[in-house]
Amino acid sequence: MGAAAKPLVVGNWKMNLDFVEAVHLGQQIGVMLKNRPAEHAEIVVAPPFVDLRSVASIVASERIAMSVGAQHVNMNENGAHTGEVSTAMLKRLNVEWVLVGHSERRAMYAMDDAAVAATLQAVVRSGLKAVLCVGENNDVRQGQGHEQFVQAQLESALADLDPRHHEQVTVAYEPIWAIGTGVTASSEQIHSMTAHIRSVLGRLGLTASRVLYGGSVNAENARTIVLEGGVDGFLVGGASLKAESFMTIVQACDDCYAGKR
Ligand code: 13P
Repeated sequence: MGAAAKPLVVGNWKMNLDFVEAVHLGQQIGVMLKNRPAEHAEIVVAPPFVDLRSVASIVASERIAMSVGAQHVNMNENGAHTGEVSTAMLKRLNVEWVLVGHSERRAMYAMDDAAVAATLQAVVRSGLKAVLCVGENNDVRQGQGHEQFVQAQLESALADLDPRHHEQVTVAYEPIWAIGTGVTASSEQIHSMTAHIRSVLGRLGLTASRVLYGGSVNAENARTIVLEGGVDGFLVGGASLKAESFMTIVQACDDCYAGKR
């Protein structure tokens, strides 16, 4: 694990679970957390937009120790942006976090570096917290360009950020070749990239940001990655859709933090 940052585990539900299923999963996580609270790890779930209100409601009414995030937000405050959602709308639902620049949005919905930077600015200015997603594809990795590629993504998104917003930013390293493939980056690859990301963040003045890993994290590999990969937590896709596997990952981070303090 990195410095002594509290671990953060974010479940990205992607385009899965309707609002009934989402409430069910939220409640299951709630029951498991009551039976075995995460003493150190912070937990966020990021359901689809249409589930946010229901999930936020049960988190509040059942006092579940987790926060709610959105998977994306529009960079504009309001107006003629058919199909989009604003930061103000999210805040009204007690959403606290937003994923910014997930590789699926970059690749499939034409979100370029400029749009990622503008969205990040909109998120932090509104008072929400951002998980900035970065990561290279397989070609870049094979060509040994991954460090430079990730550095460019970080600089483009963060260089113009007002320092008073720095602490609202968490970075998630998600190599595209590891997302949803069952191929996890090795602990060495994760360790060296998280160190690289921390040094770039340090140069940009973000000395306290947590650095997460995402890409085929599951109940079996989480403990090894958190022990060996130098990460402050995880951004979890597929394994966050089942309460058992998600909570095993949370527990791995929680135990590791307790052991390292
Ligand atoms: P998987 O955990 O399903 O590989 O997804 C990772 C991811 O993209 C989380 O944002």
